[in-house]
Amino acid sequence: MPIDMVTSRGAVAVNVLRTKHSEKQRMKILTLETTCDETAAAVVTDELEVLSSVVASQDALHQRFRGVVPEIAARAHVERILPVIDEALRRANLTLDDLDAVAVANTPGLAGSLLVGLCAAKALCLAKDLPLVTINHLHAHIYACRMAAGEDIFPCVGLIVSGGHSSLYRCSGPTEFHYLGGTIDDAAGEAFDKVAAMLGLPYPGGPAISRAAEQGDPSAYAFPRSFIHDPSRLDFSFSGLKTAVRYAIAGPGKQDFESLNLDPVVVANVAASFQQAVIDCLAIKAVLALERTGLTTLCVGGGVAANRQLRKRLEDDASAVGFKLLIAPLSLCTDNAVMGAIAVEKLNAGLVDSLDVDAYPGLVRH
Ligand code: KG4
Ligand code: ZN
Repeated sequence: MPIDMVTSRGAVAVNVLRTKHSEKQRMKILTLETTCDETAAAVVTDELEVLSSVVASQDALHQRFRGVVPEIAARAHVERILPVIDEALRRANLTLDDLDAVAVANTPGLAGSLLVGLCAAKALCLAKDLPLVTINHLHAHIYACRMAAGEDIFPCVGLIVSGGHSSLYRCSGPTEFHYLGGTIDDAAGEAFDKVAAMLGLPYPGGPAISRAAEQGDPSAYAFPRSFIHDPSRLDFSFSGLKTAVRYAIAGPGKQDFESLNLDPVVVANVAASFQQAVIDCLAIKAVLALERTGLTTLCVGGGVAANRQLRKRLEDDASAVGFKLLIAPLSLCTDNAVMGAIAVEKLNAGLVDSLDVDAYPGLVRH
């Protein structure tokens, strides 16, 4: 079933909401986020006011594996989802009876993780007879810029750079996203995490690489930058870059990276050169997307958007090329439920789901 399908149940629910709130009372929406390894809940109003936001990170659980273990993530979501919802309601000074709708990210993400949030949202909707709104997690990452800007950001080009995705969208409106291009293999964040593991740096790799890179020379290694000379493609590829890093620090054959004991100067130089290669690819394709679409605003979200050097490079490009740049604030770059306020736009457009809506782990290209 198409995710945005409006069901008769949904349409009725929205009408009921409108009647209930005709005297300018604010609608309150509980938003849930469990697509990967953060369990998050927020309460937002239909005026995009954030009444509360809670994020329970699982970083400590996945650290020793240097990456997210899907089964551990799903089980941790099960343990955390109810306390996180309780805490979000408590901080907003509300109870379940005060809610007008429940929203949840149901695509893309890890199957087990998505299901926990979706089942929790469905259970609440069933118990309290509330409308359910499903959210595309990638669209929500762009909407983080809307929440921070406090004003309309559309139309814009959206660049989402996270642990699982690196994608460019033409965002014509808050419910109209058109996929322009993206990674054909690994995501930028995934590359940060894996390169960090090879360099003996902790998980999550992004912040660790960024710190190590401060002492390094970004031109020490000539790492590949896929597709940057091909203006016909708005795509990324980071798997070859990972392989190039691997051969820069170790010989061929099976390697135990833990025992490499790399010189800190090598670690810093590899980190800086790798980071620069990723930044060049992201910035060049984002500017190309603006040129190709004729749009003049670039919105950037996702965990990798927290990278200081990437933010600086995009700011420099914005001044040099002349486009408006909105990057999600650090607190809204990594996964959170505030960005789930995009549900307000879907509610306003009557895009409500039935309770048999599914989770879609794969990237839905719209
Ligand atoms: O958006 P997010 O929290 O989760 C997904 O939807 O995947 O992104 C997590 C990713 C991780 O790969 C992490 O290493 C990366 O964002 N990240 C960063 C930085 N902070 C987090 N990458 C580069 N530089 C950073 N400062
Ligand atoms: Zn994310």
